[in-house]
Amino acid sequence: MMLNLSKEELLLQAWNYYDIIIVAVFSIGITLFVSKSLGRVVITEKGGIPGRLGLPFLGETFSFLSATNSTRGCYDFVRLRRQWYGKWFKTRLFGKIHVFVPTTVGAKAIFANDFVQFNKGYVKSMADAVGEKSLLCVPHDSHKRIRRLLADPFSMNSLSMFVKKFDKMLCERLDNLAARKGFVVLDFSMKLTFDAMCNMLISITELSLLRDIERDCTSVSNAMLSFPFMIPGTRYYRGIKQARKRLMKTFGEMIMRRRSGRESHEDFLQSMLQRDSYPPNEKLSDIEIMDNLLTLIIAGQTTTAAAMMWSVKFLDDNREAQDRLREEQLSISRNKPEGALLTLEDLNSMSYGSKVVKETLRMSNVLLWFPRIALKDCIIEGIEIKKGWHANIDATCIHYDPDLFKDPMHFNPSRFDEMQKPYSYLPFGSGPRTCLGMNMAKVTMLIFLHRLTSAYTWKVDDPDTCLEKKAHIPRLRSGCPITLEPLKSGN
Ligand code: HEM
Repeated sequence: MMLNLSKEELLLQAWNYYDIIIVAVFSIGITLFVSKSLGRVVITEKGGIPGRLGLPFLGETFSFLSATNSTRGCYDFVRLRRQWYGKWFKTRLFGKIHVFVPTTVGAKAIFANDFVQFNKGYVKSMADAVGEKSLLCVPHDSHKRIRRLLADPFSMNSLSMFVKKFDKMLCERLDNLAARKGFVVLDFSMKLTFDAMCNMLISITELSLLRDIERDCTSVSNAMLSFPFMIPGTRYYRGIKQARKRLMKTFGEMIMRRRSGRESHEDFLQSMLQRDSYPPNEKLSDIEIMDNLLTLIIAGQTTTAAAMMWSVKFLDDNREAQDRLREEQLSISRNKPEGALLTLEDLNSMSYGSKVVKETLRMSNVLLWFPRIALKDCIIEGIEIKKGWHANIDATCIHYDPDLFKDPMHFNPSRFDEMQKPYSYLPFGSGPRTCLGMNMAKVTMLIFLHRLTSAYTWKVDDPDTCLEKKAHIPRLRSGCPITLEPLKSGN
């Protein structure tokens, strides 16, 4: 791909990544020098957590970036250190000390003290991108209020309309695809989840507008993960100064049209505006609504789409589970009139289906770890964590712990026949910051699995298991291309 870039584009790429390049070159030099003169030294202060903090600021940043840039994914950085140092280890990344918290006891200690002893770090690029009033950025009191006011449309009971709309959209799109047969699941699921969420949140269905909004949301999301240099041409500038601005304008105009009575819909935005006459504590301001609309779209699209892709891959690798799931789903469709859409009741009866969803989320670890910062010195399981250190709840390590999940690398939905130990199953986090879209994600995946297994079989066309480079959510580099085959009648 690089070969097709013009000289100017190459320069721009180098400009975009010049900070990373400088850190990389600098750390390679210093690391080579230090390791030549000292050999590998495992740094373990007396009674401290093992690990290598390396040089001030740089620490192991380069190794982390190199793992992120490889097809093994950024979790490889964590996996390797755990092999070298044991379950608990510390490292230094981008100038900050990080501890990866690998146990249920540690997870509980942090989740139960979220906002009090620990908090999400305030990252400027995050606030610039999703907005200062986003759930991801506001302080404790505002968080409680905003979350309470946002929550109702995402409760299971409120999702019945979403179930119908999503099911209809999915059936139409699968019908169209079946004629073409081959397609990339990730591309399909990204568009599908985006369109379905925009429909539910702001009732946008026009395809060209959806694609414009999607492009801008992707730009904002890229800006969140880039270095905050507000210089024209950088990813940061494009995301914040251009894409975010356009999105806020679109959302603002939408709110105006609805307030003037020119437009009205039955959706999330309307339910927020219905509170206009309520006291200030019982409604959201326009900027709170707009920042959180953007947050919901960004938090919901890539996560759900990746999970859908992994469900296809895992079920392809595990035919027994696929057959059992198909059996359950066919028994549900046989009991419904032909062409009828799914209801919440149908979803509630998908007992094996919901275990497939759970197992997919356990194994795929869409969010690998949950970052927090210690607000004061504390001790967890005898491990001292100092004020200002990053304590990352390592959900991946917990989900792959053989003491918690027998044979953890085996895809086995039936393991959820049994109750799980507290804090051992954390795909949606826990505590005051538990995923707001958890129910929506679950119903989306159940409907997807129902339509896929009850009407089709499929074949994965590319067995490559490499992960996409530079992605913070693990996804197959191939996007999981499949060929659909309509299920023969009589099945
Ligand atoms: C399979 C799909 C999904 C997964 C695995 C997932 C996972 C998570 C996790 C682990 C957290 C907590 C992070 C932390 O504690 O640091 C979270 C938070 C959040 N998620 Fe999700 N999510 C998914 C889908 C969605 C969807 C569909 C939406 C919205 C429509 C959504 C909206 C949010 C929001 C707004 C937060 C922040 C909550 C807060 O800080 O109070 N997520 N998600």
